[in-house]
Amino acid sequence: MMKINHSVFEKSSKTINQCPSNNLPEFALVGRSNVGKSSLINSLLNNKTIAKISSKPGKTLLINHFMVNKKMYLVDLPGYGYASISKKDKESVKRMHRSYFKLRKELLYTLLLIDIRHDIQKIDIEFMQFLNNNYCPFVIIFTKADKLKEESLRNQFKNLKNQISEFWDTLPLMFLTSSKSRTGIDKICEFFESSLSKYSN
Ligand code: GTP
Ligand code: MG
Repeated sequence: MMKINHSVFEKSSKTINQCPSNNLPEFALVGRSNVGKSSLINSLLNNKTIAKISSKPGKTLLINHFMVNKKMYLVDLPGYGYASISKKDKESVKRMHRSYFKLRKELLYTLLLIDIRHDIQKIDIEFMQFLNNNYCPFVIIFTKADKLKEESLRNQFKNLKNQISEFWDTLPLMFLTSSKSRTGIDKICEFFESSLSKYSN
């Protein structure tokens, strides 16, 4: 399994023109604000503070590149669907998502995060459709598994799968994770490794 033994925050970019230009493949994290994107990056990189997190939604507002093992990037993006950031910030986030997912050639896979405690929202489905329209393959990561007890966790996992299958004939890969208890972190590392090996072949 791929072990992450080297990671470094490289830069924050406002537009994709400013993003790193060394052609390393990248994995981007998206999802509703506060779903735990930045926290998941910290868990994957085994560094509590490398990505900035906050209990207040709308923390990440730029495109953040983290170089991993000198061979790929993890990309922390601003969240969508949060009502109370300013209209101006919302527009800028939308523009950023549009240009990133339409134009970023280095993007190998998108990780779309969903809070396991909540039912699927219209905006999540719309974002999946947006990714699909732009030929961006994605997997789904359910977050905050530590917040539910075993039985409700299993039920909710099933519910969410059913809800998503109403919109997708072929279900994307799905992972159940907790950044707090590190559930599912190794599985995501395995996914990185297998995606990278397919890419280089
Ligand atoms: P934006 O940058 O605002 O879009 O949010 P984000 O998706 O990056 O969320 P962030 O990682 O900043 O986490 C939001 C809140 O959820 C913080 O208070 C985290 O501590 C909490 N959180 C994230 N992941 C987990 C988890 O696995 N378990 C628990 N219990 N809390 C979590
Ligand atoms: Mg964030």
